[in-house]
Amino acid sequence: MQNLPIVIAHRGASGYRPEHTLAAYELAINMGADFIEPDLVITKDGVLIARHENEISETTNVASHLEFSNRRTTKLIDGEFKSGWFSEDFTLAEIKRLRAKERIPKIRPHNINYDGLYEIPTLQEIIDLVQRKIVETKRTIGIYPETKHPTYFRYLDLALEEKLLEVLSANGYKGKNAPVFIQSFEVGNLEYLSAKTDLPLVQLINDKGQPYDFLLQGDERKYIDLVDLAGLKQIANYAQAIGINKNLLVPQDASRKLLPPTNLVENAHLAGLLIHVWTFRNEDNFLPLNFQGNPQAEYQLFFDLGIDGIFSDYPDLAVKVLQGN
Ligand code: G3P
Ligand code: CA
Repeated sequence: MQNLPIVIAHRGASGYRPEHTLAAYELAINMGADFIEPDLVITKDGVLIARHENEISETTNVASHLEFSNRRTTKLIDGEFKSGWFSEDFTLAEIKRLRAKERIPKIRPHNINYDGLYEIPTLQEIIDLVQRKIVETKRTIGIYPETKHPTYFRYLDLALEEKLLEVLSANGYKGKNAPVFIQSFEVGNLEYLSAKTDLPLVQLINDKGQPYDFLLQGDERKYIDLVDLAGLKQIANYAQAIGINKNLLVPQDASRKLLPPTNLVENAHLAGLLIHVWTFRNEDNFLPLNFQGNPQAEYQLFFDLGIDGIFSDYPDLAVKVLQGN
């Protein structure tokens, strides 16, 4: 019998607390999530911290710190110009003076109550939390770190990969059965990692665009070109799982109505890959037309298709559906 799918708390229980804070991760664990998902960027002094992007003004109060006003700048990040404040221009001590805030206050006004309360956590602090919760709950709780902007940071001489392996190894995460999945939207850094570690690796696949390292190399393949059986077998040479945009498994038409599922679960399994799917959220803005007001039905549809894991902003509901409640 197939194992139950894992519930991965996307940026923590980010539906209930500002994303990528220890409070969001701890709440997710309390809600029964199997894994918590830190997206990782890096500071000027080489410390891995949890943020979804290196431009930090959308999810922190950096803009209100007058002492940092002259750090505001514009940079070319993965082919797009971005203006704001960037993690690589701050030491960890400076980052620790900031506080997290809700990314989407209009959609999640309840989270504004937590703005300004929480620090930006380091990867080490997240692991410390997980280790403490493992003792407290007597459950296996995994971490699912994502390397953000890996080519960009390597170019700045702030490569993420070695630091990540160093921190994981120092905390006892070793071998293919460790409760860790390392994920990336790029391909080259996963291939590089596969030669350096036995820890499970995950190729992220979006429903549009292409890996940024492909673009730099003049490789014209898009993400969509990676999901036929031949592409999946290629991924299986360096990764143990794919992490896909849910639209690749159950597409939607222009009116956001669901279309019949593709055979991606079957093909991923044929290629020997686990298949994890993102991102599940309760709000109607993110739900297909068929399931407005009924996020439970979306979970059930994907669980019934035989997926191996789900990324959710509301892990309590994912767990509830999985348990048949
Ligand atoms: O990492 C998979 C999932 O988190 C989707 O990507 O953009 O939310 O980091 P993102
Ligand atoms: Ca992510």
